[in-house]
Parts: sequence; structure tokens; C-alpha cells
Amino acid sequence: MKNLQELLEHQLKDLYSAEGQYAEVLPKMVAAATDSKLKAMFTDHLKQTKSQQDRVRKVLEDINVKPGGVKCEAMAGLIKECEGMIEEDATDAVKDAGLIAEAQRCEHYEISGYGTATQYAMTLGHDKMVKVLDAILDEESRFNEELNDLAIQEINKKAV
Ligand SMILES: [Fe+2]
Repeated sequence: MKNLQELLEHQLKDLYSAEGQYAEVLPKMVAAATDSKLKAMFTDHLKQTKSQQDRVRKVLEDINVKPGGVKCEAMAGLIKECEGMIEEDATDAVKDAGLIAEAQRCEHYEISGYGTATQYAMTLGHDKMVKVLDAILDEESRFNEELNDLAIQEINKKAV
């Protein structure tokens, strides 16, 4: 890699991989959750995640870069953590609290990735790309906040 453009392309491929991996584990998160609100939130985020991966693919295609060829190892590790919690022998509320904790780890990782990519795109003057990435960044932040609120207002108390 010799410039910020190539680093941005690498970051975008990494995010493309991360979204794809997350989309594979989210149905299992839906099945493992017991709280109906949490189930609905994971279901919505699965749809959102697929759409985000699609938008990242389009952003890459717009700059003539093929997605793929990069595996996001960090998301692979986070997903292992999710799977561990899915399989954990825990009471309902504790399981739900644990699933929220793992999902928030994934969201924070994505927030970091999209934040960086948005800044690179800004520096490079990719105005259209900035809008797309910034919109995804907002979605990730919102989902993280929703998970946080549900945990604090309901699930964590039930898990006591
Ligand atoms: Fe995402």
C-alpha cells in the first residue's frame, strides 16, 4: 500500500467482510434471544446489516474495486465470542444480557471502522462515498444506543 486511497480500499474490503460475517451470526442471535424486543432488534439489524454490506459493495464498485479477498479477522473473533454466548448455559435474562454485550462489541468495532473510512473518504474528496459511509455509521451508532438502552432499562435488572 502506498497511499491513503489504497488504505481506504483495504478498510472498505475489511468492512465488507465484517458485514458478511455479522449477517451470518445474527440469525443465531435472533434464535438465542428470549426477550421479544431484543429478538425484534436483532431481526431488524440483520436486514440492516445485509443492506450495509450491499452499500459497501456498491461504494467499492464505484471506485472500480472488487470486494472480497480480505477476511476481517477481528470480526471473526468477535463472532466466536457471540457464538460462545449463544451456546452458553444461562438463564433467559442473563443470556439476553450476554448477547447484548457481544453485539455491542461488534457495533463498536464497526463504528470504529466506518468512522475511520469516512474520514479517509473525506480527506480524499470522495463526497458521495462520505454520505454512504456516514449514513451506515449513524445506523451502527443508533443500534448500539438501542442495545444500551434495552440493557440498562430492562434486561440487566432482570438478570440480577
Ligand atoms: Fe453493520
